[in-house]
Amino acid sequence: MKDSSTQSSVLAMPQGAFNSKAQSAEWRETMADFPSGVTIVTAMENGRPLGSTVSAFCSLSLRPRLLLVCMDLRSHTLAAINKSHAFAVNILSDRAQSLALKFGAKDGDKFSDVDYEIGDMGCPLLMDCCVNIECRLGASYIEGDHAILTGQPERIVREPTRSPLVYHRGAFRA
Ligand SMILES: Cc1cc2nc3c(=O)[nH]c(=O)nc-3n(C[C@H](O)[C@H](O)[C@H](O)COP(=O)(O)O)c2cc1C
Repeated sequence: MKDSSTQSSVLAMPQGAFNSKAQSAEWRETMADFPSGVTIVTAMENGRPLGSTVSAFCSLSLRPRLLLVCMDLRSHTLAAINKSHAFAVNILSDRAQSLALKFGAKDGDKFSDVDYEIGDMGCPLLMDCCVNIECRLGASYIEGDHAILTGQPERIVREPTRSPLVYHRGAFRA
């Protein structure tokens, strides 16, 4: 028997093709219960650097080495990746909360006042990171309103002494 004094709740699964606004908000909150690291996925389009904050990142395969990121179909950075077939995953350190907010926004010159260099694959590599991974685009699948991208790492730079930025329930933690 469940103790009714606890704070837990049971979510009803939507039956239709699209969620109601309330169900979408509940789903976002549920996913926010999972703590994650924070990355900025970058790409280059006609000499213009693009980047998006992305928490939906994980390791996919060891042999061969593959990683996975999920990106909103409306992302400008996604469009650049699909054209250039290359991207970089920059895993943010605890010093880079302002970058997470900057690259989580839609507009503005995201790269102004940001330290970065161009990697071997032509993608921007941000400083203040624990890791920079330059990738060749592998597969790209559309599922719902996001694209699932796989990346084949070509070059990795690690700064093991730095601590990662963590995102949990809508807040950043060092
Ligand atoms: C903490 C945080 C995590 C985010 N995670 C993702 C994510 O995993 N995938 C995604 O597509 N957008 C994510 N976003 C939203 C994008 O960063 C945002 O839509 C951005 O404006 C896209 O920029 P672009 O259109 O220039 O690529 C996240 C934003 C924040 C602040």
